[in-house]
Amino acid sequence: MDASAPILLFDSGVGGLSVLAALRRALPQAPVIYAADNGGLPYGTKTEAEVAARVCGLLGRMSERFHPRLICIACNTASTIALAMVRDVLNVPIVGTVPAIKPAAELTRSGTIGLLGTAATIRQPYVDRLAAEFANDKRLLRFAAGELVGAAEAKLRGEAVDPAVYARAAAGLREQPGGAEIDTVVLACTHFPLLSDELAAAFDPGVQFVDGAAGIARRIVHLIQGQTFERRQDDFALFTKAEPSLAALAPTLARYGLMRQDVLQ
Ligand code: DGL
Repeated sequence: MDASAPILLFDSGVGGLSVLAALRRALPQAPVIYAADNGGLPYGTKTEAEVAARVCGLLGRMSERFHPRLICIACNTASTIALAMVRDVLNVPIVGTVPAIKPAAELTRSGTIGLLGTAATIRQPYVDRLAAEFANDKRLLRFAAGELVGAAEAKLRGEAVDPAVYARAAAGLREQPGGAEIDTVVLACTHFPLLSDELAAAFDPGVQFVDGAAGIARRIVHLIQGQTFERRQDDFALFTKAEPSLAALAPTLARYGLMRQDVLQ
């Protein structure tokens, strides 16, 4: 294994930065490429076939070009749809991001869990299976909060976001039958932990939020234990489409140690 081989983190946009933050804490020395399919954003409103085709195609091209030691699909939508397919076609360890229903089921005291994800994620059989396996004796209420994806993108570009967006996400869970009992909310989209302060303010005090980032970082550490790391160039962000709004992301990316931007050719 080449010590400079990167870990490639992939999302449709900036959401995977919530996973990168956890990875930086666990493995600060590991070289990283952060890849965002901004040309395909948002995934949450696409069909399963569209998401699967983009994710498999892009990860294939990125693997050939950058030879990552491991790929993390830092996106619940892409993982719940295409994780098995990507594993079938790529000969590199792949870590996915799946809704943190298991930890939420262990934490809830009321027995009612809320789940915020994209429209595509919340309808996946993968989520049904997690619910059946880990939260069978709990009530799991799901709400498609796709507009939070745009809110996170705007926030990280330094733009103002209308707080009504967060209120709508909270109401979407609370107003379902049994919703007032929710004491634990699964943030089942990697964009959403980037809005944790705003979401905490929109929900009732005492509601706790759970996401998968720390668990994903632990899984990556486990899979690459014993490997050596040498950062021979600055870590960078890779986009699939050149667009003017990328410039506004530079200060945020630098805070995550991504010192330049590149566009996939
Ligand atoms: N960050 C992605 C996720 O975790 C989805 C955002 C999108 O809709 O593209 O589901």
